[in-house]
Amino acid sequence: MDQIVIEGGNRLSGKIPVSGAKNAALPLMAACLLSDKPLTLTNLPQLADISTMSQLLEQHGVQIDASNGAAVFDAADVDNTVAPYDLVRRMRASVLVLGPLVARFGEAKVSLPGGCAIGTRPVDLHIQGLEHLGAEIDLDGGYVTASAPNGLTGGKFIFPFVSVGATENLMMAATLAKGETVLSNVAREPEVTDLAECLVAMGSKIDGIGSDTLAIQGVDTLNSAEHSVVGDRIEAGTYAMAAAITDGDVELAGVKAEHLDAVFRALADAGLEIGKTYDGVSVRLGKGGLKGVDVMTEPFPGFPTDLQAQIMALMSVADGAAMITETIFENRFMHVPELARMGANVNVHGASALVRGVDRLTGAEVMATDLRASSSLILAALAAMGETVVRRVYHLDRGYERIEEKLAACGAVIRREKE
Ligand code: UD1
Repeated sequence: MDQIVIEGGNRLSGKIPVSGAKNAALPLMAACLLSDKPLTLTNLPQLADISTMSQLLEQHGVQIDASNGAAVFDAADVDNTVAPYDLVRRMRASVLVLGPLVARFGEAKVSLPGGCAIGTRPVDLHIQGLEHLGAEIDLDGGYVTASAPNGLTGGKFIFPFVSVGATENLMMAATLAKGETVLSNVAREPEVTDLAECLVAMGSKIDGIGSDTLAIQGVDTLNSAEHSVVGDRIEAGTYAMAAAITDGDVELAGVKAEHLDAVFRALADAGLEIGKTYDGVSVRLGKGGLKGVDVMTEPFPGFPTDLQAQIMALMSVADGAAMITETIFENRFMHVPELARMGANVNVHGASALVRGVDRLTGAEVMATDLRASSSLILAALAAMGETVVRRVYHLDRGYERIEEKLAACGAVIRREKE
């Protein structure tokens, strides 16, 4: 297993290219199953989760041809509609094949993802939504089987609460359902919008993109399309905080500033100076230093849960206190004990964590527990006095492309080695 070793205390300065968003790429790849014509995706990040999704699609019968920065997904000869436990357990987003498979082939059998480190994360909304589109659902032996031998039919579904994955699954399924589907209280995350735009390029008829209600007119078949994966706002937000925690100055290229509005509002209140550049944003800590700010995670356009652990690392060295409240996932404070080992002062009360800023963090051996927790430990390590060893970085490799290369290019002293 790999570990990352960081010598803290070095200012970051330079330009960081932001990769394509993992959370956009995964549903976009699943969307290839909707058509017998090839889907070409560019700006795909090279990440462990992307490889897992590729393996899943290949075992369904999808031909993948990746070269010259583009990958062509050809689902003309899909011969297997079962997504096995072995692949689904590695990545919850595997459940995104359920909607496309049942919509195009009238049947799909997908392993239930099971528990996960950051909460129970059931897939009940995905299932209920498909039932509203006429699918028969059977849960047996750890698998969900959806069948609609005569195809799905349009329907109305009001999400009782916002779910990114269930919105994506149902939107994809509805593109091939007979008649109109209306989905209300849908997720508005930029990755959902990116998927919707790709589906439109494939010939789907979707109204209300970017709003909380989507109206989808089903079509018989979808066509070939080419789509560039949107820039990763979570990766960009992480590097913005890396600049702040090292009193640095970075430019983030390839991200849309409006995808980070809530994050930049919080960071500006914390004392960062943020400017737009022609293809991204510039970020640096202002002269007044870093101040504590309160943050609550919410569905987009609110502050993303996927940046909660990182802002906690940042707040741990801010002047004053910060109350960080997690409303999306239960049990998403696993980074707290690890940050505490580096000297952070954090008290958790239910869904909120009170962070009292300290003057300095100190290097330690710490262990990554999930993807975003790992990046919070990297941020803490960049600011800490001395050496930090972050173990179990395979979590990090699921979501950050070439992280040590990108940080080292801006002056971080960071290396990857075998444990
Ligand atoms: C996606 C992101 C993940 C991000 C999350 C919230 C991908 C691949 N992953 O995950 O990085 O943290 O959005 O922004 O895009 N829930 C149910 N039943 C369901 C579905 C969800 O109870 O059927 C609950 C979940 O347990 C969670 C909440 O709803 O508490 C939101 O989850 P959801 O938006 O679905 O997250 P994912 O799509 O899994």
